[in-house]
Amino acid sequence: MATIINTLSQNISESFQSPVLHSFQESLTVESVIEFFKTLSWWKVFFTALAVGLVYDQVMYQIRKGNIAGPRFKIWPVIGPFLESLDPKFEEYKAKWDSGPLSCVSIFHKFVVIASDRDLARKIFQSPSYVKPCVVDVAIKILRPENWVFLDGKAHVDYRKGLNGLFTKQALAAYLPSQEEKMDHYLNHFREISKDGTAVFFHELREMMCGLSLKAFCGDYITEDQIKKVADDYYLVTAALELVNFPIIIPFTKTWYGKRTADMTMKIFAECAGEAKKYIRAGGKPTCVLDAWINVMEEAKKGKSDNPDAKVLVREFSNKEISEAIFTFLFASQDASSSLACWLFQIVADRPDIAEKIRQEQLAVRDNDPSKPLSLELIDKMTYTNMVVRESLRYRPPVIMVPYVVKKSFQVNEGYSAPKGSMVIPTLYPALHDPEVYENPDEFIPERWTEGSKACEAKKNWLVFGTGPHVCLGQTYVFMTFTALLGKAILNNDLIHKVTELSEEIRVFATIFPKDDLLLQFKPRDPFTPVQTKINQEVQ
Ligand code: HEM
Repeated sequence: MATIINTLSQNISESFQSPVLHSFQESLTVESVIEFFKTLSWWKVFFTALAVGLVYDQVMYQIRKGNIAGPRFKIWPVIGPFLESLDPKFEEYKAKWDSGPLSCVSIFHKFVVIASDRDLARKIFQSPSYVKPCVVDVAIKILRPENWVFLDGKAHVDYRKGLNGLFTKQALAAYLPSQEEKMDHYLNHFREISKDGTAVFFHELREMMCGLSLKAFCGDYITEDQIKKVADDYYLVTAALELVNFPIIIPFTKTWYGKRTADMTMKIFAECAGEAKKYIRAGGKPTCVLDAWINVMEEAKKGKSDNPDAKVLVREFSNKEISEAIFTFLFASQDASSSLACWLFQIVADRPDIAEKIRQEQLAVRDNDPSKPLSLELIDKMTYTNMVVRESLRYRPPVIMVPYVVKKSFQVNEGYSAPKGSMVIPTLYPALHDPEVYENPDEFIPERWTEGSKACEAKKNWLVFGTGPHVCLGQTYVFMTFTALLGKAILNNDLIHKVTELSEEIRVFATIFPKDDLLLQFKPRDPFTPVQTKINQEVQ
């Protein structure tokens, strides 16, 4: 050891004796350093700092990237692919997923890791100690920081337990009568607006999904005018929450309009919650989510609930708290449900053979009585219609990716750790188009969901609603509502779709939609008339 130290010190002292270094030492006085800084102009300082910043940005990118797929360098320094992210293209996302099981991009200071492999995606969803859902900064202002949806860990799990009961089949059955009324209202409206030919349905279907959700959540406490106002304005919230938006709310910008709409909607929900409390305390039976929640609170208060979670976890929530939670249901459901509605109606309109099978099933389960009211038992019998909804969710999954943020360094796979603060994004689309599980994954085949089939068994690939502690709260609601809605729509209408070259192209707007905004016509039909398979072909 002593020898090594001696050798080192000898080398050092020898190098210090070099003539070049000696003259450098002589010239490096305090005065000379001050003199050097005096000669520096502002622009020199600026460009030096810029150069250091750019090198730092590239070096940090290389360190964070490690061995995963992604551009060799940040082609656009600092901003990265920011401009592309303003107008996201489905094909670009797909190319990214195909580039490797883990790939990355860096936009400004945000480092993003994308997991396209099924098992890695599942691992992210199921690692709440390392990751939590990530929302754009402005979402916290719009949904309010105290909202339950931002809870993490045990606090989140406990709160969720209190909500799960509001979306079970039994609970949902109680909301069906008012939902059916609303479905009939919208289906009549669709016939009216398309009586002279096809009309643009993108906005119409968004409005219907909003109306149906509001009815299920608030029952008759919300007025028709309020439903219309919220349904008309809700797109302002979606626009405010786009991935790229200014984080500060400045008057008359997208985020300002979004916040204003959210506040207006929560105010309506708070009033409805007040009414629901009066109704339930007077002994009323639950007919909507608000009623059901307040009923659970009342029962928990009296210690009467059968649900052990409710006894422990449900306290009395204020109208404001309730309104904020109900708003998160609307927020979580609106875009995904609208996406499903667009694809589902387009797909079935384009496939008269599938429409015919739905009609036959509908007549059979209704005992040839098309006016039979919806009930849980009736919907449970609609096996084929349900399979069509399921296949639509697989074929065109409304949510293609779910952003999470890394809380502490997270070993995603053997060779790669995502650094703290980075974003990790499990993707859903590749698992749902895996040819190993879904033969001909780019074909729409409802029969693949026959009980006991390979697709049914492949539970790990079914990521449409996520998995883990944040798994979608509304998935049973989605199946019940859409099976019922599709059955009624197809039984009583011929759906005519004007196919354009953009119909099958995918536009990304929070979720995914047909690029031509869906041109449809709802033509009333006698439910007993055999299917007219020619209609679609004539239009094409
Ligand atoms: C086609 C329709 C829908 C799709 C595809 C969908 C999909 C999803 C996905 C992928 C997640 C993230 C899951 C995760 O991170 O593991 C989620 C979360 C959520 N969804 Fe849905 N959803 C739909 C409709 C709904 C509806 C109708 C409701 C409410 C009634 C709802 C309420 C929620 C809530 C509250 C969360 C957050 C849960 C939590 O953080 O604990 N969703 N959904």
